[in-house]
Amino acid sequence: MQNFTFVNPTRIIFGKAVVAKLGPEAAKAGKKALFVYGGGSIKKNGVYDVIMESLARNGVAVTEHAGVKPNPALSHVQAGIAKARAAGCDLVVAAGGGSVIDEAKAIAAGAMYEGDVWDFFCGKAEIRQALPLFTALTLPATGSEMNAGCVVTNEVTAQKYSAHSPALFPRVSALDPETTLTLPREQVAYGAVDSIAHIIEGYFTTRDADAEVTDEIVHALARSVVASTLRILKDPADYNARASMMWSATLALNGLATCGYGGTSFINHAIEHSLSAIYDIAHGAGLAIVMPAWFRHHLETAGPARLEKFGAAVFGVSGAAETIAAFEDFFRRAGAPVRLAEAGIPAEDIPKISANAMGLIRLWGMKHEQPEIEKILRLAV
Ligand code: NZQ
Ligand code: ZN
Repeated sequence: MQNFTFVNPTRIIFGKAVVAKLGPEAAKAGKKALFVYGGGSIKKNGVYDVIMESLARNGVAVTEHAGVKPNPALSHVQAGIAKARAAGCDLVVAAGGGSVIDEAKAIAAGAMYEGDVWDFFCGKAEIRQALPLFTALTLPATGSEMNAGCVVTNEVTAQKYSAHSPALFPRVSALDPETTLTLPREQVAYGAVDSIAHIIEGYFTTRDADAEVTDEIVHALARSVVASTLRILKDPADYNARASMMWSATLALNGLATCGYGGTSFINHAIEHSLSAIYDIAHGAGLAIVMPAWFRHHLETAGPARLEKFGAAVFGVSGAAETIAAFEDFFRRAGAPVRLAEAGIPAEDIPKISANAMGLIRLWGMKHEQPEIEKILRLAV
């Protein structure tokens, strides 16, 4: 088990009717909020009204920035920064899934920076400060509600890159599982796949495979995601399954699931980001295609030990090939595509996808070359 530092300053308020608590929390930080949200799901499920009322009751004025799209676009982030500056906003409130929270983070940092916000994503500048951020999560998946990262797509260059800084941790995140009851079935599936991806990346790429406590945290989170998802798909009104899923997804990428691993890689994500950058597919859909292929590559290059351990603990199967089959079976049962063609992506595009992935691989300092990425993608045909 390697040395590590674990810090997570985000205050989580979890449970029924907690979104109304954001107003008093936001009022401690400022008087003028930029309220960031997406294509309107929060108007349908009531979250919008609860936030507007809670902010008004606590004396916080609101400027709205609506229309964040899944895989948030740089131009919309830049528009949000201009709005926040023009209105003199001193805090940001976000309500929605990972795309909304990520865009809100980019705006919060960009509003306090003189240059172009893309500088943070392409490695030209570091985020040193950001407006305080308050979130209401409505889609368990990305962990953005309790982590220090955000992902934005430069739609001109088709680069889907990330920025990270302790300044990006949300101050407070309200997690009400009831707000997830309106999720379309496919978003439930993609959220489950993304959560699984977050917990397996570290487990399978660790430099130190003898950190039993973290292995067991990973097993427990994966078992919870699988069981909760199957319960939700069977009965979408199952509150306790929604609640377990929501908390599992948050814990999957808040730093807990890699403690002691001493250096891990986010290779499945690096490859997936090129799929969602080029084809604008859901992040979880892309991961369900990449992961089974990468597992086959991992088995060939790193051997069966980790796959066998994970499979026995999470799926109750013995054997590395059986573990890969169990992953794939779960993704399929959830309703996610597991091959490129199932998402309408032609195999002829593999060189283009791999070339795009190399941008992020270099930026993240990972040691992979394009032929290896092409080989992995060919396993997804
Ligand atoms: O836009 P609205 O109307 O809100 O609709 C959204 C969107 O269409 C809808 N939705 C969200 N909550 C809902 C709902 N519909 C009904 N009821 C609800 N309660 O779901 C659709 C997808 O939303 P999105 O935010 O795009 O999904 P997700 O949470 O999966 O976020 C994906 C983005 O996060 C990035 C991904 O790359 C992608 O851009 N990631 C962010 C990470 C981070 N910050 O740490 C890590 C991840 O690995 C990931 O890369
Ligand atoms: Zn992810």
